[in-house]
Amino acid sequence: MNVLVTGGCGFIGSNLVRYLRRERPSWKVVNLDKLTYAGNLENLQDLEGDPNHVFVKGDIGNRELLDLIIRQHGIEAIFHLAAESHVDRSILGPEVFIQTNVLGTHVLLEAARAHQLKRFLMVSTDEVYGSLGPTGAFTESSPLRPSSPYSASKTSADLVTLAYHHTFGMDVVVTRCSNNYGPYQFPEKLIPLMIANALDDKPLPVYGDGGNVRDWLHVEDHCAALVLAMEKGKSGEVYNIGGGAERKNIEIVKAILAMLGKPESLIRFVQDRPGHDRRYAIDPSKIRSELGWKQARTFEDGLSQTIKWYVDHRSWWERVTSGAYRQYFETQYANRLKAA
Ligand code: NAD
Ligand code: DAU
Repeated sequence: MNVLVTGGCGFIGSNLVRYLRRERPSWKVVNLDKLTYAGNLENLQDLEGDPNHVFVKGDIGNRELLDLIIRQHGIEAIFHLAAESHVDRSILGPEVFIQTNVLGTHVLLEAARAHQLKRFLMVSTDEVYGSLGPTGAFTESSPLRPSSPYSASKTSADLVTLAYHHTFGMDVVVTRCSNNYGPYQFPEKLIPLMIANALDDKPLPVYGDGGNVRDWLHVEDHCAALVLAMEKGKSGEVYNIGGGAERKNIEIVKAILAMLGKPESLIRFVQDRPGHDRRYAIDPSKIRSELGWKQARTFEDGLSQTIKWYVDHRSWWERVTSGAYRQYFETQYANRLKAA
């Protein structure tokens, strides 16, 4: 099969491209990525010279480019991951989130429809459901109540994708996954940021009281679920993906410090994220029972492997966080600390 992966140089995308090359070696994988601050060709350095991985630098909103790629490479299906993905950035500047996540997805859907592709897999998020109280878990029929500009833009893309199935009969599948962690995650997200700061004995900024809960899944387990959804998912259906590993942020931060042998005095409680969702938890029974998905790792094993990866790949995270990103982080941190 010839597939297009959008956002294949980002965190999940690069792990997915590598997973596909390993687990589906006969597939040709075309990777379309704009290489924003979050996308790095270096994430796929080990695939250099692989004839079945083709990288194209470009924007998902460029229809002419999409037509060319689909024709030239005989694309049959799309894994759509390209997005602006960071909630804090969507609060600082929502526009690019609407541009890429909503309008970009629409251009991609139109191209998929025009070329009558076999399947469009929309990689959505559990953030479409909003925040949970202290009990319960999101099912596929939970109401959609996105809170941030990021989650609202993803909800729009998710719903437009489903509308293309209902209205035009397009073959689409939507997945809604919980928080991922693992190698190549940009250190603006909780786990890699805390690891990198702890390794450099820098303060670890915990938002609010640190009691917000996320449900964590190793990125490889997410990739396995995406391939199952592509191959076996029912058209027009939504599948929740989650690891059953609910943790308070503060517990994760303390676990990272303990694994690295660093003191808890590095923790700084800073101003909370505006509109911060309190708790996410996913009920993954549908993908388990209908598609036979199950995760391969416990959170504790995955976290310790991930910490080791960041210890061994200091040059990677130092390079991707140099320059403009450093400035963004230092300013964010200083402002939050002042306001706390
Ligand atoms: P990421 O920010 O690490 O990567 C996004 C990639 O998309 C980057 O390589 C970037 O260059 C590319 N991109 C951005 N705008 C583009 C455009 N206009 N055209 C082409 N490429 C563009 O994100 P991630 O964490 O890997 O997330 C990937 C997808 O999975 C996103 O759609 C996100 O909403 C979804 N998701 C993420 C998580 C998570 O925990 N990270 C969980 C559930 C769903
Ligand atoms: O749930 C899926 C979503 O998970 C994805 O759709 C998003 O793309 C992805 O970024 C992630 O969103 P979160 O906002 O949950 O992830 P983040 O790593 O930014 O934050 C995780 C939690 O940690 C959240 O409660 C905020 C908190 N946090 C985050 C940062 C960056 C801190 O306390 N301090 C920090 O410095």
